[in-house]
Amino acid sequence: MAGLFAVEGKSVLVTGGSRGIGLMIARGFVEAGARVVISSRKADVCAEVAARLSRTGTCEAIPADLSTPEGAVGLAEAVARRHPALHVLVNNAGATWGAPLEEFPDSAFDKMWATNVKPVFRLTVALLPALRAAATEDDPARVINIGSVDGTRVPSIENYAYAASKAAVHMLTRNLAHQLTGDHITVNAIAPGPFDSKMMAFALDNPALRAEIAREVPLGRIGRPDDMAGAAIYLASRAGSYLTGAVIPVDGGLSTR
Ligand SMILES: NC(=O)c1ccc[n+]([C@@H]2O[C@H](COP(=O)([O-])OP(=O)(O)OC[C@H]3O[C@@H](n4cnc5c(N)ncnc54)[C@H](OP(=O)(O)O)[C@@H]3O)[C@@H](O)[C@H]2O)c1
Repeated sequence: MAGLFAVEGKSVLVTGGSRGIGLMIARGFVEAGARVVISSRKADVCAEVAARLSRTGTCEAIPADLSTPEGAVGLAEAVARRHPALHVLVNNAGATWGAPLEEFPDSAFDKMWATNVKPVFRLTVALLPALRAAATEDDPARVINIGSVDGTRVPSIENYAYAASKAAVHMLTRNLAHQLTGDHITVNAIAPGPFDSKMMAFALDNPALRAEIAREVPLGRIGRPDDMAGAAIYLASRAGSYLTGAVIPVDGGLSTR
């Protein structure tokens, strides 16, 4: 069993690694000895977080706006220059939008598609040469997409375009997984339930609402950083090397409702 969950020395890119779920994952990889790149739009925040994470391991920042084709391709080029062989790509960056049905703006669908779906495809394709360079039959390169429990069951909040975009991420995961088996690249998704982040602060920073959300979760609590880091490390390690095309719920059982 020694080394079954090891990710030491692997090169890892985490998009949206500056805060929230991306930071939980990036910190897990850094502390487990991986060489991590984090990316997000705000260059100063990204650099400051990378400097903080570097106190316990190896982390650098490469800022990019992934909602544009140039942003995704530019990030892929910059990462591939530093890591010609990329072992793990975590497509985590994302945004949400909530509004009542009849006020839900058409533009939200464009924003969710541009931020949550297209970058997953663009970045994976642009990084294929680096992923292929790291991939072997025994130790495939890994793509980990962050979907959502909201893409698997009807959410309790009105976020129509978001939920649809996350269902798209799950289907894209299966599609890419099938296509990339021959390259020894696995593609899986994590579908989180509620985790503390800026995206969820509107609900989880309100004690009454937080308690209500925790009660809705069959395991009775909000997700913790280790829950997320653990799932990502499993998928990136030897333990996860025979899994591809899966959408793993890390949601305290919400998807069983
Ligand atoms: N938190 C939850 O409960 C929950 C549940 C299910 C799924 N998720 C998913 O988990 C992922 C992370 O969400 P989170 O809750 O951690 O949200 P968050 O705190 O808002 O973090 C989002 C991250 O993505 C980056 N980002 C946003 N737009 C970007 C763009 N156009 N280009 C590059 N980076 C961008 C942000 O940094 P900048 O603003 O600096 O760009 C930030 O680092 C998302 O895909 C979300 O849908 C979250």
